[in-house]
Amino acid sequence: MQLKLHNLLFILALNIIALLFSCKKKEDNSPITISTTEAITTDSTSFYKESFRPQFHFSPEKKWMNDPNGLVFYKGTYHLFYQYFPGDIVWGPMHWGHATSKDLIHWKHHKIALFPDKLGLIFSGSAVIDINNTSGLGTTQNPPMIAIFTYHNMDFEKAGKINTQSQGLAYSLNEGETWTKYKGNPIIGNNNLKDFRDPKVFWNPETKLWNLALVAGDHAQFYSSKNLIDWTYMSQFGKNRGAHGGVWECPDIFKLKVENSEEEKWVLLISINPGAPNGGSGTQYFIGDYDGKSFKTNQKDIKWIDYGTDNYAGVTYNNTPNNERIFIGWMSNWLYARNTPTQNWRSAMTLPRKLSLEKIGSNYVLKNTPIQQLKTIKIPEYSKELLSVQANNKIAFEYNHLNQSQFHFKALAKNLKLTFSNEVNDSLVLIYDHKINSFSVDRTHSGIVNFETDFGKLIHKTETPNLTTPTLEYQIILDWSSIEIFLNGGVYSFTEQIFPNKPYTKLSIQSNEDQEIKNLSIAKIKGIWETNSTSKPSKK
Ligand code: FRU
Repeated sequence: MQLKLHNLLFILALNIIALLFSCKKKEDNSPITISTTEAITTDSTSFYKESFRPQFHFSPEKKWMNDPNGLVFYKGTYHLFYQYFPGDIVWGPMHWGHATSKDLIHWKHHKIALFPDKLGLIFSGSAVIDINNTSGLGTTQNPPMIAIFTYHNMDFEKAGKINTQSQGLAYSLNEGETWTKYKGNPIIGNNNLKDFRDPKVFWNPETKLWNLALVAGDHAQFYSSKNLIDWTYMSQFGKNRGAHGGVWECPDIFKLKVENSEEEKWVLLISINPGAPNGGSGTQYFIGDYDGKSFKTNQKDIKWIDYGTDNYAGVTYNNTPNNERIFIGWMSNWLYARNTPTQNWRSAMTLPRKLSLEKIGSNYVLKNTPIQQLKTIKIPEYSKELLSVQANNKIAFEYNHLNQSQFHFKALAKNLKLTFSNEVNDSLVLIYDHKINSFSVDRTHSGIVNFETDFGKLIHKTETPNLTTPTLEYQIILDWSSIEIFLNGGVYSFTEQIFPNKPYTKLSIQSNEDQEIKNLSIAKIKGIWETNSTSKPSKK
């Protein structure tokens, strides 16, 4: 025991000495250098190391991806299906791609799950496990995984018909590996609506029925069923509620407990495109009540789940352990999704995030924050209980895991200006100012921005009335082509794509006031696709 203690003390002393050598302090105005022992290769032939390839976010091995679909947990595995076009790196005839994960961090690619057929392309939708075999499509010993999705009929579209979209069903008896389309498709036909899509199906334990929400242009519709095949229309919501800058897409509806109370509320997510606060696509939410038939709210204001530009079509998992509400969004925006400067593949998903509901004053706020499991791939590099910042003085960090830009920053602090930059003067600037209650992200000089006029045009500024105290918890997560920012545990989040010409290797911290930053921690985030790791994508 004593020996162990000695050993521990010795290791601790070594670590302190190592830290003193690796972090140059600020007094002499030189940057604090954070070094790493790992040598990183950016050899373009090595796996998943192409320019801008997300290192710890899900992206398809190749070709085009958009919305997450069919998020369902079954037998210890999280399934992620997604809108996929295997023919190009722009949107095209939609299939459902498929990936799985045991921890929502490491992903394994699988074969394409759903292919277009004579009824149409396979647009967005959702999946459940029919545990009691209510559909009769499996058995109770081997319950079917059921996907309900939108068919988009191209022949109808070419013929100028309006009712191109209907809802179809497919089932799998081998955990999503292979699928059979239901022979009676479509299961919900179209009554002459131009936009009629993106069904979210779920089991409602209160009514003991299957429920489904879909969108029809400017409103959501709710349906109910005993067997997942025959659906009864119940009600509609939203014609005169919320934002209507664009068509409604990808609904989701679920119940959450309000933190620190016994109250429970229903949350309705609706993506819209265009019409988001910072341009193009975005996801709004409504807090209200739902009885299995209709959704009601007295919410007057418009609420957004994310104030960045790149979190769209996000929906949540069915069937999770402990009923956790886990959300994944598509990390792009229809304004410029087709033109981002990647090769071979296009776009990624947000980190999976846990949703929770807090009442701030009289206002319900849907918070989203990265799942706990993220800590399993964090490698702590620098931490400081108290770091003094003088008004308008800079503290500069240089982190040496060059060509990496995988970065995690957490701190409790007041007003901050954080600038990420690189050797070719690209810079990404984040500013919080409590006096004017505003947070802004400036990616106008963040790297390659000129692939689309709307991408780097604006500074994204957001009013932040729900940040009620001057000190905030900042959590910032940087991957090779994205930044995700969470303030006060996700009361506000901002998700943005970025395409720096060289990896950011510097961070400067400034403030317009003297302050002590508390509990500052900086960590590297390990890549999830490393060749020697078991997470290497493989095809079954
Ligand atoms: C949202 C969306 C959905 C549609 C899918 C088509 O991004 O437009 O409404 O089902 O993409 O790929």
